[in-house]
Amino acid sequence: MNVLLLGSGGREHALAWKIAQSSKLSKLFVMPGSDAMSEIGQQVKGDINNPQDVANCSKEHNIDLVVIGPEAPLAHGVSDHLRDLGVHVFGPSQAAAQLETSKAFMKDIAQQAQAPTAAFSVFDDYQQARDYIRQQGAPIVVKADGLAAGKGVVVAMTETEALDAVDDMAKGAHGDAGKKLVIEEFMQGDEVSLFVLCHGTQAVAFGSAQDHKQIFEGDLGPNTGGMGSYAPAPMFTKELEQQVMETIVHPTLKVMMDRGTPYEGVLFCGLMLTQDGPKLVEFNARFGDPEAQTLMRLYQGDLLDLLYNLAQGNMPAPPLMLSKSHAMTVVMAAAGYPGDVEKGMPIHMPEDFGDHVVVFHAGTNFDGHHFRTQGGRVLNVTATGDDLQTARDRAYDAISQIHWEGVQYRRDIGHRVLDRK
Ligand code: AMP
Ligand code: GLY
Repeated sequence: MNVLLLGSGGREHALAWKIAQSSKLSKLFVMPGSDAMSEIGQQVKGDINNPQDVANCSKEHNIDLVVIGPEAPLAHGVSDHLRDLGVHVFGPSQAAAQLETSKAFMKDIAQQAQAPTAAFSVFDDYQQARDYIRQQGAPIVVKADGLAAGKGVVVAMTETEALDAVDDMAKGAHGDAGKKLVIEEFMQGDEVSLFVLCHGTQAVAFGSAQDHKQIFEGDLGPNTGGMGSYAPAPMFTKELEQQVMETIVHPTLKVMMDRGTPYEGVLFCGLMLTQDGPKLVEFNARFGDPEAQTLMRLYQGDLLDLLYNLAQGNMPAPPLMLSKSHAMTVVMAAAGYPGDVEKGMPIHMPEDFGDHVVVFHAGTNFDGHHFRTQGGRVLNVTATGDDLQTARDRAYDAISQIHWEGVQYRRDIGHRVLDRK
């Protein structure tokens, strides 16, 4: 099979790495890919958000399956256009991806599905939003409706913080994404992500993970795309997984099917394990980044075979995650991230880290001698072990051998389970 993978970050590097291991693969193409990914797939030019570019490339290279990494192509209707042309795609339609691209849409569907989730109200009038916040009091959560690179959510511990968040959105901090607001009840508990492979009303759990969204140790500071992740999520038992499938995933898929927008692809369920049971925080229409890096290190099956079959509605038999190992990813970022970063720093690192560590590239380029930093999140150091502590030790041992000027990373990934005893 010929495969075209869309995207260029660490998640896509991990997907490419896993797809490249498939015995079914003839040739892997990556659009636009990265210098690091070009070692395993042929880079092709084109705009991944332009349906015509992707369709032309699929035709030219006789592509059997297009795998969409990030959310932006979904929002631009790339999967719809490919399906119209009869190309197999891993990734939901534009309409189904609204579960991620509009938080108001997601809450509406969750309500119709009677899925447990935080109580909420939607506003397109900022003054009414402020009045509602004063009425409800803090803690309270203020969200921009649209896509904001994981930065459009403010978990406000005081009324002032919540009102400031509304003011920021009114001033255009998130552009059009902040024209509508979702204001939610604050939920407390452990946060877990469940990744579910879906086709219409059929669903099979792929795996669970936890991530650390905040930039600083101790889960402090502004939210980022994710500073580290580990899998499986230790507190997420089989019973909890089943409960989430029954109360959240299946009812949501049924509502999506009934309204004529069936969901096909991976459904990323962000969950809060509250005292009243698991509740839905958010949906994403793609694999998480850096959760995918972690999960790809644990999945022992043939990913290409799995995704190709899924695209045709052939569901795999559960359970999919058979590995007894644990995996951790630590994100190494450039100085300044999640704000503006300086690019072009040469990265010093060994070529090989042994059997247990794989380094995925999130934002680098190769100058002929060195990889250099080219983004906020730069490298994703992933390690496996028989237990999470071993995986963590291996990841940080590898990190101690990697250096560039201004490098920053969290030294406490996994602390919520490893250091809380
Ligand atoms: P979201 O983009 O909706 O996942 O929100 C980003 C992060 O904000 C989540 O991962 C949670 O840590 C936090 N968050 C979102 N909604 C809530 C909520 N209702 N209660 C508590 N924390 C929340
Ligand atoms: N790591 C969270 C996300 O990919 O949205």
